[in-house]
Amino acid sequence: MSPACSAAEALAEFRHETARLALRDWREDDWPEFWRTTNTPAVMRWLGGVADDATRTAARSRLEAYQRDHGHTFWVVERCEDGALLGFCGLKRSNQPGGPQGMMEVGWRLREDAWGKGYAKEAAAAALDLAFDQFDADEVIALTVQGNTGSWGLMLRLGMERREDLDFDSADFDPENPRIIAYSIARQIWQKAGAAGR
Ligand SMILES: CC(C)(COP(=O)(O)OP(=O)(O)OC[C@H]1O[C@@H](n2cnc3c(N)ncnc32)[C@H](O)[C@@H]1OP(=O)(O)O)[C@@H](O)C(=O)NCCC(=O)NCCS
Repeated sequence: MSPACSAAEALAEFRHETARLALRDWREDDWPEFWRTTNTPAVMRWLGGVADDATRTAARSRLEAYQRDHGHTFWVVERCEDGALLGFCGLKRSNQPGGPQGMMEVGWRLREDAWGKGYAKEAAAAALDLAFDQFDADEVIALTVQGNTGSWGLMLRLGMERREDLDFDSADFDPENPRIIAYSIARQIWQKAGAAGR
């Protein structure tokens, strides 16, 4: 195990390791680094644009509430090799106005220089394992907009299926096309793909 990961292990925090990454709880000093590296036009392109102070405060409060209410959230994604904070990935319960409520939902957001390396898929696969193995989900959904090819591409790479029956409208993400598109994967499908070597 790398020094970065073993040092963090000394703390009594949630952490779940993959080959290259750790999903872990947030620490106070993660937040400035998270916003410094991810609150950019490219990362926020399909998320309502670069976030102002009020939006950032509300986003942090939501993630802290998910942890408090459900025992899971969009955790920090840390690279074990050097301890770099790459972004977040994890689990919430779907709660967007007009959309499905209370379903297990996987989500992700990585800094731009961490794209194209398979980190998001690795982190998301870990989150799906946790959803089914530790948090008792029967099904996990993911939501995005049509323009966010990176995000729905990842959903497909994970083996998720398109779920038009769960689509809804929200202008918070892409005002030009407010349709939120849904994907999902069932426990049995995920575990079968895992057993087959995914
Ligand atoms: C959505 C997002 C997380 C996807 O990240 P990503 O890096 O493209 O996704 P993956 O981890 O699956 O990586 C796939 C890419 O890594 C490459 N790759 C390199 N090494 C790899 C490896 N060891 N394993 C797998 N893929 C690897 C793949 O070839 C692929 O490259 P390509 O995009 O050129 O085809 C990222 O674009 C993002 O953070 N976007 C901004 C935030 C956002 O919109 N979040 C979603 C809101 S709904």
